[in-house]
Amino acid sequence: MRAVILVGGYGTRLRPLTLSRPKPLVEFANKPMLLHQIEALVATNVTEVILAVSYRAEEMERDLSEEVKRLGVRLIFSHEPEPLGTAGPLALVHDLLCSGDEPFFVLNSDIICDFPFMQLLEFHKNHGREGTIIVTKVEEPSKYGVVVYGDDGKIENFVEKPQEFISNKINAGMYIFNPSILKRIELKPTSIEKEIFPHMARDEELYAMELTGFWMDVGQPKDFLKGMSMYLTSLRQKSPEKLYSGPGVVGNVLIDETAKIGKDCRIGPNVTIGPGVVLSDGCCIKRSTILKAAVIKEHAWLDGCIVGWRSVVGRWVRMEGTTVLGEDVIVKDELYINGGQVLPHKNISSSVPEPQIIM
Ligand code: GDD
Ligand code: MG
Repeated sequence: MRAVILVGGYGTRLRPLTLSRPKPLVEFANKPMLLHQIEALVATNVTEVILAVSYRAEEMERDLSEEVKRLGVRLIFSHEPEPLGTAGPLALVHDLLCSGDEPFFVLNSDIICDFPFMQLLEFHKNHGREGTIIVTKVEEPSKYGVVVYGDDGKIENFVEKPQEFISNKINAGMYIFNPSILKRIELKPTSIEKEIFPHMARDEELYAMELTGFWMDVGQPKDFLKGMSMYLTSLRQKSPEKLYSGPGVVGNVLIDETAKIGKDCRIGPNVTIGPGVVLSDGCCIKRSTILKAAVIKEHAWLDGCIVGWRSVVGRWVRMEGTTVLGEDVIVKDELYINGGQVLPHKNISSSVPEPQIIM
């Protein structure tokens, strides 16, 4: 089987991290977001993954080639001359998707859950119509594509980012389609959510399958951290051996084996520590992700933060309120940062008591 992953888009909501790496390559729980999806697809017997890329394709090719060899899956890069939205990229690989005459998966690249692809395939074959989308329930539906459907799953209405409340069931960003969907899509910038799904619903060709378990769109910092907590909780149930345990560790914590942990640290709950990270003596980290090769100095205190690659957080620093440090940022000793979004390569030498972007 084949799958298309939509990896275009500029990832502006995940800045400053996406100023250094394309969103699908940002490590979520110590693995590029995209790899979580590719691994789940491979487990469902997908042998060909088409990455629909609109920019920074070379970086993705370089960073993924090793991993992909290990997984034994064929990666095909489909470069868009201009961003084609969420449907246009399918038209670009029309011939490939039509060969073989079997259904194919389509995924947004910034979502995390226990991907139920096998179940999706079965559900899709059972109703026999053109498409199935996975839906989940959220508290703030206006940020997503909202779906109204009957008991049998047949979708009656699909509205992208509705202004008024219609339902709290939303498009989770994972689909399976028969090749016949391609007749609906022209080769030009097109939104599958706004321009294709409403028509399919009208034609009674679109079904919804409900997701069980956690789900999160991790394309913005707050949700990235929320999604990480959910992911670690699920890991505790499925593969607790992957989680770290040791002195000073509280709750679910993931630590790369090459990280160095000092004495008397307090880590957790809900923390991910990347490869080569140094946590110095006495630091306290909660609900945060520390990316590759960052250094946290003695007695720093972090809650709700993402620390970018190779950044250095000084002694006795206190950071909270969804602070995000870009790549290679230096925060001097004893500062307080609350909700700061710090652009790559900056030196911070005074406190940031209110949320702001630091350029
Ligand atoms: N190739 C390509 N080209 N990919 C694109 C382009 C493009 O021009 N524009 C966006 N994408 C990719 C993004 O990288 C992402 O993987 C996916 O399409 C969806 O784009 P987002 O920008 O993340 O959309 P969203 O989060 O606002 O909304 C979408 O996801 C929600 C679930 O998280 C919609 O599909 C909603 O209906 C859905 O509820
Ligand atoms: Mg998104």
